[in-house]
Amino acid sequence: MQFPVPFSSDEQLIGIAEKYGTPLFVHDESAYERCGKEALAAPNAFGLSVRYAMKANSHRAVLRIFERLGIAIDASSIYEVERALAAGIAPEKIQLTSQEVQPAERLRELIAKGIQYNATSLEQLRIFAWLDCAKDTPISIRVNPGLGSGHNNRTNTAGRGASFGVWHSHLKEALKLIEENGLKIERLHTHVGSGSDWRVWQKAALLTLKIAAKMPDVKTVNMGGGYKIDRVRPEKSIDLQSAFKPVKKAFKDFARETGRKLRLEIEPGTYLAANSCILLARVEDICDTGPKGYEFLKINGSMTELLRPMIYGAHHPIRLLGRGEETEADYVVVGTTCESGDIFTPKEYDPEGIDTVSLPRAERGDIVAVLGAGAYGLSMSAKNYNTRPICAEVMIGKDGADRLITKRQKPEEIWARELD
Ligand SMILES: Cc1ncc(COP(=O)(O)O)c(C=O)c1O
Repeated sequence: MQFPVPFSSDEQLIGIAEKYGTPLFVHDESAYERCGKEALAAPNAFGLSVRYAMKANSHRAVLRIFERLGIAIDASSIYEVERALAAGIAPEKIQLTSQEVQPAERLRELIAKGIQYNATSLEQLRIFAWLDCAKDTPISIRVNPGLGSGHNNRTNTAGRGASFGVWHSHLKEALKLIEENGLKIERLHTHVGSGSDWRVWQKAALLTLKIAAKMPDVKTVNMGGGYKIDRVRPEKSIDLQSAFKPVKKAFKDFARETGRKLRLEIEPGTYLAANSCILLARVEDICDTGPKGYEFLKINGSMTELLRPMIYGAHHPIRLLGRGEETEADYVVVGTTCESGDIFTPKEYDPEGIDTVSLPRAERGDIVAVLGAGAYGLSMSAKNYNTRPICAEVMIGKDGADRLITKRQKPEEIWARELD
């Protein structure tokens, strides 16, 4: 995997921070493209489709970059479907894979529009089966194959502890429903977790193929996303070329045994977005808790922009821009909300622990860059906590020019919907 190091120089970024203010997300179009092309080049036996799991970062500018590359969309809510449509994505390129149960009427409307449906529970499948159009509309079914893996337990989306998909041993019930109602399940879907151990993902692929063997209409197997990006140690990130080879072989073996050449579909979020965007924030204050304590760098980016360190104990590389590389101080980097857990340097995967990062000595007003903030950054943050306005976003285009892609929210917009 090529580790995309976006953005040319500290000076450029400091200039962007001055121009647009902080906190600020800065995206890099070339980095998104590079990741998209890598995903499209993943080894496969009989064809590959890539969907972008738009929950990772749902900005229209990002969706359109992937659309231009021929990457479709996986939406995790009805609102994401609407957002993708509003961004100009064609309905037939959008799949809905949601925990929400859509009422029959809404499901009918979605299908009439051409949205692809992925039923993720028996109830969702039952409701779909009631529709008049059910027999003529090939859909997908999400199965929990019985094992999962995430970069921590919170991102493990399969196995006994996960409510996503039809539990594999309830499949008989699903197959009965499918047969009795003449449904066409052309796509089988699993997604075992985010930041998964790719050996677990490979095992899940074998289990999924066993399930596909029982479903003769299935033409495409979607193996979800979860392809690990280690933001701090890029060498530990997945190498799609080697990780996909055993899966390619498994698809070929399946074809030899059954005569069925299945297409592979994947739907990464993190892989496509994580390293294509950074968060810029300004040092607001510096304080310490004495010789046995810590030195704190308070920055104006917070859990309201990036929640991953706080909820997962996730580590993101942090750089102090324009101060060289020599490290002189170990800082606990914290946000400026009134929340003691609002910390960018927790112990890794222990959100309640405190760690430090070695940086050059900082001064008030310096600009800090938090890297790897493109996936589950703004899309998942604790927006408006402490009545903090949602920050602005900038895209650096392939020509190197920066342009505003999201305006900073005005504080009064936060309370505008409130009624007396
Ligand atoms: C159904 C589904 N597909 C794909 C993804 C993308 O996962 P990741 O961002 O780890 O690639 C997710 C994320 O949780 C998901 O729920």
